[in-house]
Amino acid sequence: MILNASGCLDALEAPEVARALDAFVTKTVTPLPREGNRPVRIAETEAGMLNSIGLENPGVEGLLAEKLPRLAELGVPLWVSVGGFAASDYSEICAALDERAEVSTIELNLSCPNVEEAPESAAEIVAAARPRTGKPLYAKLSPAATDLPETGRAVQAAGADGLSLVNTIKGLALDERTLEPRLGHELGGYSGPALKPIALAAVYQCYRATGLPIVGMGGVSTGRDALEFLAAGARAVALGTVLFSDPEAPGRVRRELAEELAARGLAQPGDATGLAQAGGTVTVA
Ligand SMILES: Cc1cc2nc3c(=O)[nH]c(=O)nc-3n(C[C@H](O)[C@H](O)[C@H](O)COP(=O)(O)O)c2cc1C
Repeated sequence: MILNASGCLDALEAPEVARALDAFVTKTVTPLPREGNRPVRIAETEAGMLNSIGLENPGVEGLLAEKLPRLAELGVPLWVSVGGFAASDYSEICAALDERAEVSTIELNLSCPNVEEAPESAAEIVAAARPRTGKPLYAKLSPAATDLPETGRAVQAAGADGLSLVNTIKGLALDERTLEPRLGHELGGYSGPALKPIALAAVYQCYRATGLPIVGMGGVSTGRDALEFLAAGARAVALGTVLFSDPEAPGRVRRELAEELAARGLAQPGDATGLAQAGGTVTVA
């Protein structure tokens, strides 16, 4: 299964790219509209991209009234990414989404490095959201957690049906002449190929700790990358930064993955899930 990573594709601007996915994940929606952080909000670095978009979005009412009906016309299952600044923000949005048949799955963004975090823990937020919706709930976690497998187990115990791993990690880029931060918000979220080993470790450890379905992401740009995420334990992969340079990536990665699987005598993507684990020696805390 190939998805986009939240915030990396505007499906209404590029519907043909969204239709090439198995599900479309919206940009994170917050209770009220947000204009996002001041510019500059994107910087390329030697080995990855930094962004400090700051959750620019139309707010949950704008999403429900205007965007959701149009997104539903794409004919692709819709995942809505939910953000907030307190557990009650998440639970209120989940309750509103629960009433909408267009929404197949809810992803709780528990890990945006560009905005202030809710005071509650990831597990407390999942526990608050869980009773408000019968839809599948995925918890999107930061690779910077001190003990990610433990966080994975805690959100599982709180009722998460799956994990999305990983969000970006905090980074800084300096202007080579002035030595000032290149982003208006100073720090940003680091993404792209350099994130892949970090993301693979997160998937590998959380698969072993929880056995939950995992959407793996972080630097996926080829079918080979996708295969590695499956082998580490993912059931699906999401494409993020690569979509900015290659809008054809969904079809290409799908073809390349099919070739990788065929070359190994694997009939379907699910047959690759967890292959790296056999004989693995990760110690789970
Ligand atoms: C420009 C940009 C905007 C993003 N916006 C969001 C967002 O709104 N919500 C979210 O959960 N993740 C957001 N992310 C993180 C991605 O969904 C993904 O977790 C991360 O970029 C790692 O994947 P990649 O290396 O393939 O880009 C954003 C990433 C980028 C580059």
